[in-house]
Amino acid sequence: MGVVNDQSPDASATGGSPDSPDTTAAWWSDAVFYQIYPRSFSDSDGDGVGDLPGVVDKLGYLELLGVDALWISPVMRSPMADHGYDVSDPRDIDPLFGGIAALDALIEEAHARDIKVTMDLVPNHTSDRHPWFVEALAAAPGSRERERYIFRDGRGENGDEPPNNWPSIFGGPAWTRVTEPDGTPGQWYLHIFAAEQPDLNWENDEVFEDLATTLRFWLDRGVDGFRIDVAHGMAKPPGLPDMPEELQTGLLINDDDDPRFNNPGVHSIHRRIRAVMDEYPDAVTVGEIWVRDNTRFAEYVRPDELHLGFNFRLAEAEFTADSVRDAIENSLEAVDSVRGVPTWTLSNHDVEREVSRYAEGTTEAVGRDRARAMVLVELALPGAVFLYNGSELGMPNVDLPDSALQDPVWERSGHTNRGRDGCRIPVPWSGDTPPYGFSESPDTWLPMPEGWGGLTAEAQLEDVDSTLSLHRLAIELRRTRPEFAGEEVEWYGAPPGCLAFRRAEGRLVCALNTTDGPVGLPGGEVLLSSAPLVDGRLPANAAAWLV
Ligand code: GLC
Repeated sequence: MGVVNDQSPDASATGGSPDSPDTTAAWWSDAVFYQIYPRSFSDSDGDGVGDLPGVVDKLGYLELLGVDALWISPVMRSPMADHGYDVSDPRDIDPLFGGIAALDALIEEAHARDIKVTMDLVPNHTSDRHPWFVEALAAAPGSRERERYIFRDGRGENGDEPPNNWPSIFGGPAWTRVTEPDGTPGQWYLHIFAAEQPDLNWENDEVFEDLATTLRFWLDRGVDGFRIDVAHGMAKPPGLPDMPEELQTGLLINDDDDPRFNNPGVHSIHRRIRAVMDEYPDAVTVGEIWVRDNTRFAEYVRPDELHLGFNFRLAEAEFTADSVRDAIENSLEAVDSVRGVPTWTLSNHDVEREVSRYAEGTTEAVGRDRARAMVLVELALPGAVFLYNGSELGMPNVDLPDSALQDPVWERSGHTNRGRDGCRIPVPWSGDTPPYGFSESPDTWLPMPEGWGGLTAEAQLEDVDSTLSLHRLAIELRRTRPEFAGEEVEWYGAPPGCLAFRRAEGRLVCALNTTDGPVGLPGGEVLLSSAPLVDGRLPANAAAWLV
């Protein structure tokens, strides 16, 4: 029996709409975005930390890979308490990354190669060193300066208990008490993340006006759009009620009903952002939205809100046919009611890399085979795809020694959660020993392991079977072949442990085998497979494209 054992699709077609939405014409509606975590991509000045001139150096590589757009994790001025997600000046580039001239050069050179540049924006909070927060600390309770953030008096007799029971998503309480200018213990301020990341008060118009200035500032410099950090988090519930204990599930995750996130007021904020974005019709916003309910997710991508929303279901799916199919169906459904564009991502700077996730209970080699299969699944789907730097090389996570850990989560969790450094190791470019061409300095900001010579871009470029070559070819086929047309996906019956879907219009078939033995494939030409076929059969932990 073949993976596609039923040549007529089963009844459960999902995705797309009868009338074509306007969004499908936009450049981002089927773009391959490449996320650059700048500290870890390429270091041009030998300080052990990646920078923007380093990105410019690698534009030839990115052009060869075939990506349409970059998403650059935050490079604005920052004391780096959360490695750039704590912004002290949203309208300047940190000297560590090369200053503003380096961004201008990157935009110019990327555009010359037909690559768009999108930036990360962090509107939920600022750095505690942002001039606004410094002024707020120096000002009195109730002052205009404090109104830009979320300051409250404490509970208890002397106000020495936090205003509510919210934990920080990084561990510890979400409130920190300040010392008033006269030296007495004072009010508390809210920080959903680290204490160095005070939450802004989005009920204050000044906060939006400042963001609007920031949006126009970068768009006028030629930026093609923004990834919006914590896009489900800016609005807070009236009265800041306590959080039910059962929702205090763990670090770095949130429930849909968590009062810290996904409050209805967030949608008017997105509408105001969209009104500014509409002054720049070709620019895009993609929001980080950790919301699982499809109806509530869809609200974020209504035509007057975000252009795109990250759907993390595929990144959370296990390597089983049922789990992957469920993730795909739900991701399509989550945007269908608003005729939005689906998005797909297997990893980013906050989650364990896919090679290591899929290796659980087996070997890293199997994990890599599965990651190769999943990228074919991802690139076969309609919508926008987000690749995380290094995934095209098959980079795994790295277990770092305690002494090397940098993520604030490690300290804030009282050393119970190792944080996200393991997926942020610098990218290996060439050579057989650390730092593999990433930097002139052996002292990279996170240490690079021995034994990565075979993972480097240099080692993989000329090898037609490499993970890098698979990505290059898959992206090229996706871009050039007519079989990838249309927005609708049709499911086929498939044997247990396998799945198969077809692009209804272009008729590309993608088959995935998550079992531990080979399975037959239907007739048709195999356009690409993630592993060599065995006597015409698709091996375990592999995917194939057929036309
Ligand atoms: C987002 C980012 C994450 C950061 C957090 C606080 O979740 O992806 O890296 O730590 O926001 O800004």
